[in-house]
Amino acid sequence: MQNRLSRIIKPSTGRTVMLAVDHGYFMGPTHKLEEPRKTIEPLLPYSDGIMCTRGVLRTSVDPKTSVPIVLRVSGGASIVGGSLTNETITTSFRDAIRVNASAVALSIFVGTPHEHQTLANLGKLVNLGEDYGVPVLAVTAVGKELEKRDARYLGLACRMAAEIGAHFVKTYYCEDFAKVVKGCPVPLVVAGGPKLETELDAFELAHEAIAEGAVGVDMGRNIWQSEHPVAMIQAIREIVHKSASVREAQRVYEELKKTGSPLIAKTQAH
Ligand code: 5RP
Repeated sequence: MQNRLSRIIKPSTGRTVMLAVDHGYFMGPTHKLEEPRKTIEPLLPYSDGIMCTRGVLRTSVDPKTSVPIVLRVSGGASIVGGSLTNETITTSFRDAIRVNASAVALSIFVGTPHEHQTLANLGKLVNLGEDYGVPVLAVTAVGKELEKRDARYLGLACRMAAEIGAHFVKTYYCEDFAKVVKGCPVPLVVAGGPKLETELDAFELAHEAIAEGAVGVDMGRNIWQSEHPVAMIQAIREIVHKSASVREAQRVYEELKKTGSPLIAKTQAH
């Protein structure tokens, strides 16, 4: 378990920059992720983990990659269906192990009609994770109710996920985020959420989350919907792994935008 977890949360810094590209499992061909391989390939060298479904893994990720896989194993609802929260486990643990997943991920929907079902999914997955030494990432999803992203709600959902046995939790950044961290005894990573207006906003989000105790990000749209995704992910790495300030990250981003040259050796990322 620790060995797999430390592939993702790097022991050298205790932090991680995970690349989230699992959006298609409920959103279909999301903007700038229409052709997953094209989006993923240039970003992989700078990712400490790739969060995706087995379908994207099979079709769009080179099996020779050494980037740890965080396999999304829940689904069953879509943005055009009746409810986004009605999820089940869609991928077997056997398949997760077959594809050499370093962790498995599922969403829980606390406070919705499918709260019980998705928490039971988490319990089942943790039992299997314990059997095989595979960490489970619980995503405290909010469905369409983005306004739910406050410390009271996220604090409740994160703590519940940890109590049921999630080994790490993905949540949203919010005001009083430190309270969410304090109440959650396992590592927290933050999602970026929908694309923010500027890159600076995304740097601020990552910086505040790290400053308040997150171990990293599991970021999607704010990286690959940026005009310069490769520069963007490297600037985010500066914040996460080197505790860079927002201003420093912005400088790195602007510099890489101009030169297009990699800031770090590609192999350094993992
Ligand atoms: C959906 C997810 C996504 O991976 C998550 O939202 C992260 O991506 P983004 O930074 O685009 O929000 O888990 O439930």
